[in-house]
Amino acid sequence: LASAPPLALADKYFQLRPDELNPLWGNPCDDIRHRRIWSKSKWCGTLPRVLVIGPQKTGSTALYTFLAMHPALAPNLPSPSTYEELQFFNNNNYLKGLDWYLNFFPPNMSNSTPITFEKSATYFDGDLVPRRAHALLPNAKIIAILISPSKRAYSWYQHIRSHGDAVANNYTFHTVITANDSAPKPLRDLRNRCLNPGKYSHYLERWLAEYSSHQLHIIDGSLLRSEPAAVMNTLQKFLKISPHIDYNKLLKYDPKKGFFCQAVGNDRTKCLGKSKGRIYPPMEERSSKFLKRYYTPHNTALSKLLVRIGRTVPQWLKDDLSSNG
Ligand code: A3P
Repeated sequence: LASAPPLALADKYFQLRPDELNPLWGNPCDDIRHRRIWSKSKWCGTLPRVLVIGPQKTGSTALYTFLAMHPALAPNLPSPSTYEELQFFNNNNYLKGLDWYLNFFPPNMSNSTPITFEKSATYFDGDLVPRRAHALLPNAKIIAILISPSKRAYSWYQHIRSHGDAVANNYTFHTVITANDSAPKPLRDLRNRCLNPGKYSHYLERWLAEYSSHQLHIIDGSLLRSEPAAVMNTLQKFLKISPHIDYNKLLKYDPKKGFFCQAVGNDRTKCLGKSKGRIYPPMEERSSKFLKRYYTPHNTALSKLLVRIGRTVPQWLKDDLSSNG
């Protein structure tokens, strides 16, 4: 009996099964045979049970901060390399393996706060994310936040500009969103990154291909901004967490910031940093008209999707789909 050396054999295997080139991590604790060989120093009971998936610029940081104030919920430990977001499922961190991810959810977390959660706003539109997330966290609750996709695109453009993105600083918002396929590649790439995440129905369908609609909670980001306590009230019911917290007592509107912030006593507030709730000029009328048309088929599909899964159509979506303005 003859066989090729191990490396050659592996090469041959992956030629035959290219779909297996990238790993797909499952939960080692789900199978008794795995648990038996899983080292005593390893754990998996603290894997997140809630994922906030974004998309970016919809109020995901505010939601993350509000969730972290709840005594039954614990966010991941901070990551020195990716700031507060772990971005495990959507990029090369996934290839660092399960150990890397688990280190942000150490075993002692489960003593006082049974439910761990994670927020990475790029999960929403990451190609591989729903499949990878489901393979590891099939019972997780998934939270998406949506605002008008036009507003999201504009906020994202302002965000990337203030981070010094050379292309965004070279082109106006209108030039970016109206760039056609003969435009220079960096401009087309920026346009896609700016506009694509706003095609909400497309990405939600991908999540719904993996998770049941009962596991998916969709937050109206405009409401989160104007009535965060009401949004957090509904969210606590969806998450079935106790004690039930009255966020009216935890959050306070800060007129200077123009947003709700954490109430920290003596009439003081702790707000999110300058990069959340930026001040910039209103969107030009022509950009707003262009985006309204651009997103109409996507918004129509979103409206149908929401009705199909028994959700309320948010006011911003009705406004975006109305013929006025
Ligand atoms: P702008 O900075 O464009 O106003 P994300 O955290 O997903 O990046 O979203 C940032 C957006 O969250 C901000 O966009 C802001 O409008 C919105 N937001 C909602 N509630 C907020 C709050 N309480 N504090 C600050 N920003 C909030």
